[in-house]
Amino acid sequence: MHLMQLCQWLYDSHFGTVIRESQFAFPLIESVHVLGIALLVGTVLLVDLRLLGVLMEEEPVSEVVSRVLPLTWCGFVVQVLSGVLLFWAKAAQYYENPAFRWKVALLLVAGLNPLVFHSTVYRGVSAWNEKHTTPIGAKIAGILSLTLWSGVIIAGRATAYFGK
Ligand code: HEM
Repeated sequence: MHLMQLCQWLYDSHFGTVIRESQFAFPLIESVHVLGIALLVGTVLLVDLRLLGVLMEEEPVSEVVSRVLPLTWCGFVVQVLSGVLLFWAKAAQYYENPAFRWKVALLLVAGLNPLVFHSTVYRGVSAWNEKHTTPIGAKIAGILSLTLWSGVIIAGRATAYFGK
């Protein structure tokens, strides 16, 4: 089944139609989606600013990461669940939407960035955990994260303006 056919099937499905045609369902889910941004990107921001030595410099990096990460994962789950429901309702439209395509691409890279960081630079955290300044690799990961998540939010907002 081609991806476009799958999107058309989702769009035509009873479940997709109910969300799309309901007066309250789509706006309610989108409100949850917007609140989820605060939980996900808000907590990611805290870690990025610690990595850049801008915030919580007194706190060990691993302490900030371990306390914030559970909230970040909660935010991510909220975003994926609410996002999938929003997508399901208008899948055929989003498939052709350039802003939505940019958002998905940026989301994939934004997800890859912490995976690379945790499996490389962060392995040596014990050497710089208590220090105010962090190694260049950590700073690059922080700047990339801030840039990519800002891009996801801008593309997410732009989706409404690039639809047919
Ligand atoms: C994980 C992080 C995510 C972030 C930060 C994010 C961000 C956003 C933002 C800022 C909006 C615009 C909200 C508005 O204008 O009211 C939005 C809308 C949307 N998002 Fe996400 N999103 C995320 C994940 C996802 C995922 C995983 C999907 C789908 C699988 C998705 C699907 C959508 C859809 C369909 C819309 C509605 C677009 C519209 O018609 O206005 N999002 N998102």
